[in-house]
Amino acid sequence: MRLTVIGTGYLGATHAACMAELGHEVIGVDVDPEKVAALRAGQVPFHEPGLGELIARHTATGRLRFTTSYEEAGAFGEVHFVCVGTPQRPGSEAADLSYVESAFAAIAGHSAGDALLVGKSTVPVGTAEALAGRYAAEVAWNPEFLREGYAVEDTLRPDRLVLGVRSARAESILRAVYEPVLAAGTPLVVTDFPTAELVKTAANAFLATKISFINAMAEVCEAAGGDVRRLSEALGHDDRIGARFLRSGVGFGGGCLPKDIRAFAHRADELGVSLAFLREVDSINMRRRDRVVELARELCGGAVLGARITVLGAAFKPDSDDIRDSPALDVAARLGLDGADVTVYDPAAMDNARKAFPLLGYAASAEEALRGADLVLLLTEWPQFRELDPERTRSLVGRPHIVDGRGVLDADDWTAAGWRFRALGRPAPAGEER
Ligand code: UDX
Repeated sequence: MRLTVIGTGYLGATHAACMAELGHEVIGVDVDPEKVAALRAGQVPFHEPGLGELIARHTATGRLRFTTSYEEAGAFGEVHFVCVGTPQRPGSEAADLSYVESAFAAIAGHSAGDALLVGKSTVPVGTAEALAGRYAAEVAWNPEFLREGYAVEDTLRPDRLVLGVRSARAESILRAVYEPVLAAGTPLVVTDFPTAELVKTAANAFLATKISFINAMAEVCEAAGGDVRRLSEALGHDDRIGARFLRSGVGFGGGCLPKDIRAFAHRADELGVSLAFLREVDSINMRRRDRVVELARELCGGAVLGARITVLGAAFKPDSDDIRDSPALDVAARLGLDGADVTVYDPAAMDNARKAFPLLGYAASAEEALRGADLVLLLTEWPQFRELDPERTRSLVGRPHIVDGRGVLDADDWTAAGWRFRALGRPAPAGEER
């Protein structure tokens, strides 16, 4: 089939490449000529394992190309996937739908009346319905659930496919698009527009709630003398709860969970339904960052002014160079504002971090970042940080003080090597103030 994908960010670039992998002819469309030029040259403007190879392969097979022209895309495609962003509106919890609206208007203005316009962006419930009334071409909604770092895998082998459709025709077109995915046994849910939109927001709200739940338990553990890692392990053995998304630490960030739960609570208010618990989920999440700042102050003797603090991690999670709403950089910036001399190191996100936080210090390697530090904060759990050797690391720093903000280091090993070791969700060792 001939498909177009509007928007070539994480979602769109991945969707375009994966649709070519499924055997379709695909045009990726973006209004940003630089992005299009980079993609044409086989350069992926973000860190996503496997995506560069896939784009290169299908640019070579001729099944995948990129353009800035809606005219070209409209004339070419039978099915148009809209994959543009829905960021948080400045000064509001609500989602900014302007990119979605202009993408739909632009492609609808150039496509044939029998084309299918398929939204994949995460939108407030009710958006598909509003868009469907506007154009000659039929609209459908097909949310995505991809995780950064696993985007290709999640697109080619998803946990489920959700199709929000209003006609048998739209359903059969989308079944044909995903034929190889369905043939592999992927569960399919065919539903109406509002339910399809809600599957995505509800999934993200559930995941965020699960993380904040265990982080709230971390707060209780800190107060009561428990160990949240053991608690999480034991809870996870209960099949009804499950171990995934039950890792406590400095909390969730990224371009999706934080803004999606805010937009969902806002939209629910508009509908007269209270999802106040999502605001608490958000607060618990932000409190974890406060807690790291508080621990940093404690370990620096009450104030961080002038202290040399090394922050390990800048990306919002490992295997990503995405720094949007990154807990690590938020903490680093706050300590910087408090007068600490902060040095950040991250294996993939240095360029993005430097652009967004030019006043922080940056080192070329973990070793360089650690040298002479008064305090080390591990805030993104990259494998190379999890595997740090306490003895060797001690030989680099000025003072052996560390906060494990992701619950990935062995407290006993670090303490045995002479470190003053603090972690979220565990009480301070005996003899140390809380
Ligand atoms: C998320 C959803 O998982 C995905 O389905 C949706 O399409 C987009 O949003 P992503 O933002 O790529 O994907 O990251 P994810 O792996 O879900 O992690 C989100 C954040 O939660 C990260 O900051 C991560 O560090 C944190 N997290 C995750 C925890 O703190 N604890 C956990 O147990 C899991």
